[in-house]
Order: sequence, then C-alpha cells, then structure tokens
Amino acid sequence: MTTSFGLLTDLNEHPGLPTFGVTNPATGKELVRLTDHDAQSAARFADSSFKAFQSWRHTTAFARSQLLRRWFERMLAGIDELAQAISAEMGKPIQEARGEVMYAAGFAEWYAEEAKRLNGETFASQHRHKRLHTLRQPVGPVYAVTPWNFPAAMITRKVAPALAAGCTVIVKPAEQSPVTAVLLERYWREVGGPEGTFQVITSNRPAQVSAVFFADSRIRKLTFTGSTEVGVHLYQQSAKTLKRVSLELGGHAPFIVFADADIQRAAEEIVQCKFRNAGQTCVCTNRIYVHRSIMAPLLDALSTKVVALKLGDPALADTQIGPLVDRHGLNKVVEHVEDAVSKGASIVVGGQRQSGLYFQPTILRDVAPGMRIMEEETFGPVAPIIPFDDEDEVIAAANDTPFGLAAYVWTRDLETVHRLSEQLDYGIIGINDGTPSTPQAPFGGMKASGIGREGGHWGIEEYLDTKFVSVGLAQR
Ligand code: SIN
Repeated sequence: MTTSFGLLTDLNEHPGLPTFGVTNPATGKELVRLTDHDAQSAARFADSSFKAFQSWRHTTAFARSQLLRRWFERMLAGIDELAQAISAEMGKPIQEARGEVMYAAGFAEWYAEEAKRLNGETFASQHRHKRLHTLRQPVGPVYAVTPWNFPAAMITRKVAPALAAGCTVIVKPAEQSPVTAVLLERYWREVGGPEGTFQVITSNRPAQVSAVFFADSRIRKLTFTGSTEVGVHLYQQSAKTLKRVSLELGGHAPFIVFADADIQRAAEEIVQCKFRNAGQTCVCTNRIYVHRSIMAPLLDALSTKVVALKLGDPALADTQIGPLVDRHGLNKVVEHVEDAVSKGASIVVGGQRQSGLYFQPTILRDVAPGMRIMEEETFGPVAPIIPFDDEDEVIAAANDTPFGLAAYVWTRDLETVHRLSEQLDYGIIGINDGTPSTPQAPFGGMKASGIGREGGHWGIEEYLDTKFVSVGLAQR
C-alpha cells in the first residue's frame, strides 16, 4: 500500500497471522495493516525477552552505550520516515512530528551516556573485618505500554533507560499509533541490537496480551503512560506477580498568569503549552488562571495568536493544528465546550467542530468550578480562562484536583517564584516556561498523575535494583 510516506506493506513482519488496520485520522483511510498478536504470541515474546535477558544483563555498560548511540544516530538519519509515520498515524503536524523525533532520539543519546554512570557505593561498617558495598543491577525483563500521542518519544523514554540498565523490553504500542514503534524496533535491529532485547508486540486486543505478561513472574517491571483509569487497573494487575511499577498518568495543568507577567510572552507560551499536538498532551494546560487586572490585554494578545493558528492537513509544512486522534477524542472536546457554555462560559475564539476529526482552536472565558472542563482532562485544543484575585486563592484552586503532573507560573517576582514552586503540588513546574520537558530532566507526577520518574538520572533508577554486598574478612 502506498501512503503519503511511501510503501508500508512490508511492515507486517508476521505474515499468516491475523492483522488489524491503522487509520490516518486526517483522511479516515486505512494506512497499513499490522499483526494482531494474541495471547500465544505474547507468551513467545515473554520467552524471548527472558532468554535475551540472560546474556544482555552481562554485557558491559560500554557495549550497551555504543549500541544506544548507534540507535540515536539511526533515528536522526530516519527523521523524515519517523516524522511522516507519526504524522500519518496520529495526525501530529509534520514540523511538530520532526520535533518529537529529536526529543525521542534525545533519550537514546542521554541514556547511551548514562549507561556508563551506574555506580554502586562503598560505605562504612562498625566492624573492622567487614567491607560493605552496593551493586546496581537490572530489574529484569520489562513490559512497557505506551500511548498514541507521542508514538516515538514515549517509547524511547522507557526503552532507552531500560536497555542502558541491562533490562530487556517488550513494548505494546497504542492500537491507534503502532507504526512508529515498529520502525524504532527495526532501527534497533539494524544497528545490531541483539534479538529479544527490544521487541514490539502490535495488537488490537490489549487486555488479552497484557494478561500474559501480568501473570508471568519473569517479567519484573511494568511501565505505563496513559490515563489514570487504565493505570490503576494495570497497577492492580501487576500486583499479582509483584512487579516494579512506573506510571505516567493524566494531568490537569494549571497555568497561572500574575499581574506582573510579560503578557506577550505569556500569551505566546499558552499557545505552545495548550495547542501543541492539538492539545493532546498530558502536560498541556487545562486551566488558565489570569489575574483579573490583566484579563483584557491577556485575552487580546492570546486571541490574536489563536486566530492565526493554521488548522489543516498534518502532512503540510505550515499546518499547526491537526485532527483529533479519533471520534472518541473529538466527542469529548465537543462535550466539554457545550457543557461549559451551558453553565455560563463564553466562546472568545473558535468553539466549532469542523469536518472529519478537526476542532477549531478555542478560547473560553468565564470558566468556573463545576464545569466538566475544570475537572477532566480535555485532551483537545480548548483554552479555558478563569479570573483570580489573590495568590492564596489561586494556589488553593490550582491544587484542588486529584492530578499533579505539571503546573505553570508567569511572574517577574522572585518571591512569588519560590512560594509557588514550593506550594504547588505538581511534579513539574514551569516558571515563565510553557514547555519544560527535556530528556535530562525528571518527568512525572504526584497524586493521581502517577508513580516514578522518567528522564535524567532519575529515569534509569526505575530499571535498577540495589544489591547490598557484605564481605566478611578473616579477623586478624
Ligand atoms: C505526555 O503527554 O505524556 C508527554 C509530554 C512531554 O513529554 O512533554
């Protein structure tokens, strides 16, 4: 089958097995068919992962580092192919998809370096004849369940640290966007990644496939990015074989603009934060609190920028807003806007669905507690604006949510910066920065937003066990 990014027929690597279709959300047409693995296949993936782990765990950190470096370079060489795959399978505008590939490759680069810095410690004993130290060792084969909104970066953010630590990994990509995952696995094999170290299991029956890994005590860790609801379920399933767990779950990010903020910059960064990936990002702001004294100029600056956003075919270089990923996603956005308007919010810009899966970039004002948009993640291009009068009030409102992933603060006052950084219950705080994510920093949330951190030196800890070694010497 020929698509906007070439011939895809060779992506189905298990001819003879059943397949499922991947749809391009911009056209509604089938892009490719991939293998629909079942429970029996999953058991074979687990065997292969366990077998590969027996040798991969004993490779040197330097050897793993070199392979990861080569994987990083292969991603850079494949940037056009990867970006086109991301864009075609989930609707991300092509320029943004290129940015995602760079971000994704950055995790392979970072962990290629970090692999060599897994140091144990020696520490003192109260006995003259004892020597105490720790070893850092891989936890074992890992099962990774990844989301559709970042088909490259959410895979490398898990796979790169796992491989660097000496773990093997099975990735189950989202049914909506598995093509990029298949390409990433292929690149890993091309650069010499040993068989079974990194495998992608494509499947349209996630529960059946996952059940095999949850029941298998050889799989020692689950890492998941997705909704809180699914995360809780997978956490419970993992308990059966007491797996290590990392969960990157939903968010409901507040973006607080104080009266002394640089209004033009704040408006520009609201656009970046809210409208990237058409609002389908866990760290997208979902509540924009604006000090009442600057409401008019902020709304003016923001409206000018939002009206100018170009909605259209994600394959075109100047498109800034693509379609929502599927009908379910679009319906949620429509419902959130209708609910807010029925309860007193007004539409400043946009507010309408377009043909297909598109929704206009939208600004809502006079948004208030009690509206669905104030409680649930919209995952769409809608910016709800809420006025506030004082700092204590806005901190309380920002923290009044089960979620705690990312929060943003706009001010030029150093004391406000420190007070808000300390008092907001969120894992990531952007101060005059609407896009803080980067491979070397810890990414993760508090409360219902998850457990554990990805990225930086924190990210590799999740794949390591600490072993204590006590050496008793002969007493002399
Ligand atoms: C996500 O939506 O989970 C990832 C966003 C990011 O890494 O910035």
